Amino acid sequence: MVPAKKFSLKTGATIAMKQPMIQAALFDAKSYDREYFENAVGRGDIAWHYHEFRLSADTASLASGRDAVCVFVNDNVDRDCLSELAKVGVRHVALRCAGFNNVDIAAAAELGIAVTRVPAYSPHAVAEHAVALLMTLNRRIHRAHNRVREQNFSLGGLVGFDVHGKTVGIIGTGRIGRIAAQIFRGFDARVMAFDPVPKNDWAAAHGVEYTDLGSLLENGDILSLHLPLSPNTLHLFDDDAFNRLKPGAFLVNTSRGKLIDTTALIRSLKSGRLGGVALDVYEEEEGVFFEDLSDCVLPDDELSRLLTFPNVLITSHQAFLTREALAEIARVTTENMRRVGSGTDFLEGTEVR
Ligand code: NAI
Repeated sequence: MVPAKKFSLKTGATIAMKQPMIQAALFDAKSYDREYFENAVGRGDIAWHYHEFRLSADTASLASGRDAVCVFVNDNVDRDCLSELAKVGVRHVALRCAGFNNVDIAAAAELGIAVTRVPAYSPHAVAEHAVALLMTLNRRIHRAHNRVREQNFSLGGLVGFDVHGKTVGIIGTGRIGRIAAQIFRGFDARVMAFDPVPKNDWAAAHGVEYTDLGSLLENGDILSLHLPLSPNTLHLFDDDAFNRLKPGAFLVNTSRGKLIDTTALIRSLKSGRLGGVALDVYEEEEGVFFEDLSDCVLPDDELSRLLTFPNVLITSHQAFLTREALAEIARVTTENMRRVGSGTDFLEGTEVR
């Protein structure tokens, strides 16, 4: 941390300002990051240095002279990277996302580098996007939009279904899953849910029925995933799960790509058993999602295949991308950086140890 200084026009002297200036490097910076971090509530004493490339052991030296680095889901903050950061004086890694699987937490602790994250920024943003994806896919809005723009006003192939009266299966009823369930209840759908830690009072209040996973797979007309990725949930949707689905079921995944075995997904789509799939996350999204690859040949054959199906809708991990979520991410990250600067505790629940 360097003391902030101001040049006096009157005397020509450099005057030390009251607040210390925190120097922070923000990696994998996008235009919307700059906008929201520049305007974050309470960012007054933080000087941001934006880098469009990602943080890794190779780029860590660029954080020389910074007190903190701010990273996102695809920055590679492994032990080598953290060692480089420690060498150049960085004391805080602030994740501007909830997940922290890309940071070696044990190494950070050994090196005396604090790690924080933003555990919840807008569960509404993600739940609303899940429902938007389902409705777009179901009512073929994406196809209708393209057609009408070409003055093709025909309706062939655009038949959807009423969500009203259908059975929606919510897998994972945490912050996001509960909101998604409530939105689907607004359609007057029957909402069933599975979660190893059921919230019975909430379910009773909102007319949601808990059941086991097998029953959801077999009875759901629509399934929406809102559970974390873990060794237990990796490839939760494999050939076996797809073969148990109600024929014609729609699947929505806004959680983590690796919950679905992509090879099994493609098999299920080709067989016609799966009615449609909407994905905001993809098993091999790293290095692809968030990037403009419109001039490139896609090296991922499975992603290329998925893009050919008429009943597949993909967005590029944008479920979180609302004004409210970005403002909250910037606010929490900024506040935690100021707390390192002033030696106060981090915001509750944001430190990762
Ligand atoms: P949360 O931690 O509040 O809820 C997760 C729920 O899943 C918990 O109730 C937990 O008991 C349940 N769960 C754990 N294992 C399960 C299993 N095997 N089967 C069913 N349920 C299980 O998490 P939150 O905030 O609701 O987030 C859900 C997921 O959404 C996150 O794990 C993350 O992967 C994803 N996410 C995606 C974003 C995007 O932009 N696409 C943004 C933020 C989160």
